[in-house]
Amino acid sequence: MTSFESSQINDIGFVEQTCWQMLSDAVKDRNHAMHTVVIGTADGALAQLRTVVLRRVDIDTRKVYFHTDIRSAKIGQIRTTGLLSWLAYDPSRRSQIRLSGPTILHHGDELARHHWSGTAHFSRRCYLLPEGPGQLLMQDVTTADERLSDFSYSKEESEAGFEQFVVVETSVDSMEWYYTFSRGNRRALFSYQEGQLVDAAWLTP
Ligand SMILES: Cc1cc2nc3c(=O)[nH]c(=O)nc-3n(C[C@H](O)[C@H](O)[C@H](O)COP(=O)(O)O)c2cc1C
Repeated sequence: MTSFESSQINDIGFVEQTCWQMLSDAVKDRNHAMHTVVIGTADGALAQLRTVVLRRVDIDTRKVYFHTDIRSAKIGQIRTTGLLSWLAYDPSRRSQIRLSGPTILHHGDELARHHWSGTAHFSRRCYLLPEGPGQLLMQDVTTADERLSDFSYSKEESEAGFEQFVVVETSVDSMEWYYTFSRGNRRALFSYQEGQLVDAAWLTP
């Protein structure tokens, strides 16, 4: 398990590498606490937070990705600011990681096609609903249950969902690590430009 020995928590280079390794490990491991993350958008004066699955981490370029539906409310919020905040927390590794940076949407492009081809049959269900996410259900939920829980569509039929499918990509320009430890918490801030680490600093926790 990628984590920290007490002797390593004062090594800022090790901390930076380990944070990225934790995030990268979490993509492939459904049981990893960072497999799901919280993303935050600005919606006027209100922050909107929600859980998403961390789908991809490119350590070389410091980019992180998740999948969503083009019709969801977060899309408009991301388009307005061009920015996104991410929060990952793993109690077993005592680590909170906050990420943020400029964010773009991949819709109908080659990267979206590549990610779509890797999606599971069951996870295409939501993209196939005609209404899109977050709309009032016009039927009683037990009546709607038939279609919400209908996975009888073929692989070919599920291809229609690609139209709604978006890959959200954040180029991380700021990463902050917070480590809780009975013998003294640690906090470090890392800044990036075009995927390169340009600053690393300890903060008071
Ligand atoms: C464990 C879990 C994983 C989720 N993963 C995703 C995801 O990968 N993408 C997504 O758009 N929504 C995901 N959701 C739903 C979002 O949390 C959110 O409710 C939805 O995207 C609507 O958000 P919005 O109205 O702000 O756009 C997930 C929810 C949970 C509880």
